[in-house]
This record gives sequence, C-alpha cells and structure tokens, in this order.
Amino acid sequence: MAVTINPRRTPLIAGNWKMNLDHLQAIAFVQKLAWNLKDAGHDFTAVEAAVFPPFTDLRSVQTLISADKLQLAYGAQDVSEHDSGAYTGEISGAFLSQLECRYVIIGHSERRTLHGESDAVVAAKVAAAIKHNLSPIICVGETAEDLETHGPSAVPVAQLRAALAGVSNAADIVVAYEPVWAIGSGQAATPEQAEQVAAALRAVLSETLGQDVAGKTRILYGGSVKGSNIAGFMREPNVDGALVGGASLDIAEFSSIVRYQKHVAL
Ligand code: 13P
Repeated sequence: MAVTINPRRTPLIAGNWKMNLDHLQAIAFVQKLAWNLKDAGHDFTAVEAAVFPPFTDLRSVQTLISADKLQLAYGAQDVSEHDSGAYTGEISGAFLSQLECRYVIIGHSERRTLHGESDAVVAAKVAAAIKHNLSPIICVGETAEDLETHGPSAVPVAQLRAALAGVSNAADIVVAYEPVWAIGSGQAATPEQAEQVAAALRAVLSETLGQDVAGKTRILYGGSVKGSNIAGFMREPNVDGALVGGASLDIAEFSSIVRYQKHVAL
C-alpha cells in the first residue's frame, strides 16, 4: 500500500557508542559535541541529534545536558524486559526513565547475535520501553546470507512484525534498518537499497499500526554511515535519519553527519 510521506518527520541522527567512552570521557565528548554543533549554528529542531552512551555514563550525561541546557537527546543501548526483581546485571526501563532518557535502542544485531536475543525478547523489550515512556529504536536487518537466500527485505520485515507484536497504540517508536553486512564493514548499503527496505518497513507499520502512525514514524538507516555518504541516504523519501556506530565516536565526523543539510545540497 502506498504511504503518504509526512513532511513533519524530524530527521534523527543517533550515535550508538557501543562499549566505548567511560563516564569521564563521555562528559568531555558531549560538551565538545554540543559546542561544535552550537558554534556551527545547528538547528536542533530541524535535525535532532542523540547520543547512546553505555549505561554507566548516563547519569553523567543527564547531569551535564540538564545543567548546561544542551539540546542533545540521549538514550540507552538496551533495556530489560522486566520492571524489577532478581535479574542480575539487567537495567529496568523505570531506571532509564528516571535518568530522563528519551530513547532506548532495542534488538541491535550485536544483542541478537552475541546475546542470543530472539524476536520474542525484542518484542518484550519494546513493550517494556513503551510502558516506561521511552521511545524504542527497534533495530532490524539481514545478514549477507539472509540477503542471498531471502532477498533484501524479507528478514527485516519479519523482524519488525515480530517486534511490534505487543504494540497496540500509536506509541512513539523509531525503526532502524541496519543490514548486518554493512555494520562496521565500511561497506554501506546504497541509498536505493536502504530506501527499498525502508519502504517495505513503512508498509509493515501501516498494516500493523495504521497509516497515520506509519506516516509519522521515523525510519533510520545504519551501517557504515559517514559524513561523506549521509546525504545520499537522506535524499530518499523513506529514510528519516541514521543510526551511526564508529563515526559517532569522532566529534567532527558525527557533527558533519548531523549537519548533512549544510555540507551537501539536498
Ligand atoms: P557502524 O556505523 O560502525 O557501521 O555501526 C552501525 C551500528 O551498528 C549502529 O548501531
């Protein structure tokens, strides 16, 4: 089904730090990033910028952002499906909410493969995030083998359907399409490939949550995004931003991705 493009979708550039930068490094990094963007006159209402530090950094990042009234958003890289209890090592959505996280990344391919997270666990985590007023960034993506066997969108579409199983209302969700073969490989998908899958994912949103929600939901591309290739993705009608790994750890590079509108005319 054709989905009307909603021009009000604010692009989101999200930096997933993975297991990098301790809390002291995080403070210095966030401060410099915010200054860099401010000095460049970045309009945060036109393109939202968010950082996703490790759990142990979040309190420091919250304190800095709130004290200095920085316009950066932030979130966590994972959340427990449970609220509280005997779950050693887990972090509740309630705790993240208390730290004023706006977002939480869920179902990243590294969680799926290294920590055995199933589609059912991802769905439970999405429900937990929504329950605690966090906006889930639901990650989906196919491996190189999946791509060869099933074609470009079958696996991401099935993963998104499963992740949305417990979502019934117009919750504020974000979807991130991250082909596993493009993550950390230096070999990004082409903008056309990203658009093809993003359009298929928007059709799933439309079927499951309705056309209005589908039109408002941001779909990000992730996998070897850099300052030099971001503009191509952002030209695509169904790509509303990026989930950036390695390049989000370099202030100048991340800042250039956030400011894609300025360095290349769209
Ligand atoms: P890279 O940008 O390093 O390829 O990582 C992408 C990613 O996994 C973001 O979540």
